[in-house]
Amino acid sequence: MNKLLDFFAHTHTPFLHARGKKGTAALLVELEPTPGQRILEIGFGTGQTLVEIAARWPTIELYGAEKSALMLDTARRRLRFCGIKNVNLQLYTARLPFPNGFFDTVFCESVLAIVPDETLPGLFKEINRVLKPGGRLCCNESLWLPETTADTIRAINQQCLDAFGIVQASATYPYPADWQELGNLCGLQTEKMQSLEIIRASTMHRVHLRSALFSRIGWIKGRLIPKLKRANRQWRKNERLFEGYGRFLAGHLFVFKKRNG
Ligand SMILES: C[S@@+](CC[C@H](N)C(=O)[O-])C[C@H]1O[C@@H](n2cnc3c(N)ncnc32)[C@H](O)[C@@H]1O
Repeated sequence: MNKLLDFFAHTHTPFLHARGKKGTAALLVELEPTPGQRILEIGFGTGQTLVEIAARWPTIELYGAEKSALMLDTARRRLRFCGIKNVNLQLYTARLPFPNGFFDTVFCESVLAIVPDETLPGLFKEINRVLKPGGRLCCNESLWLPETTADTIRAINQQCLDAFGIVQASATYPYPADWQELGNLCGLQTEKMQSLEIIRASTMHRVHLRSALFSRIGWIKGRLIPKLKRANRQWRKNERLFEGYGRFLAGHLFVFKKRNG
């Protein structure tokens, strides 16, 4: 197993983003959908947030698009395990498999900042295409702190790519201001940008019980199945090596709004 995200898929690992479940809680405050709205999550991973949303707002239409077949399979199993049926999940590669102006809101957690840099403008444009006029993109992404230099970013990303198969965060769009500018170029205006490093305790939330159990089963698999156990040991060793990198990054919550017309 040479990709960390594959290991996380096999072990049902939830909350793979800045500030974990607190980060999700802060994002859900922004999402707050009204009945009948169409919502899309891009890069849903093992599906934890989809479960929370489907359970909390059963009257919305919920969709997901993922590029990893392994993640898709785990998310499907999580939803089934939790008895949730009304979520439409799709695998996709280049173009989002939805018509223009289809969604009220698109959201993602730790996806946009780790896609290959040259594909990010295209993904922003795709999101803009599938949003209704006035629709919103809400995302939680880890970005580099302003004092982190281009050389440091390049070096850390290369090490992480070699060790884990993913970068820490975008090198071409490293700082929050770059994202505001890119969003603007793609028709998405920044409504809100907030550091996730300070999150109020009141935004804590309880995790769906069956979903927490599904995550726990994956955690146990990671400690019992020899192939996963070996991979787990290797990832932990690498993680210890790169432990200090977190201090160069901060989680950010963005809300972009599609311009009318
Ligand atoms: C760091 S994980 C985050 C997973 C999940 N959002 C979470 O927070 O637990 C990134 C996820 O994005 C997916 N992904 C990466 N690039 C993508 C793309 N261009 N479109 C859709 N999903 C993508 C990966 O397969 C992975 O599941």
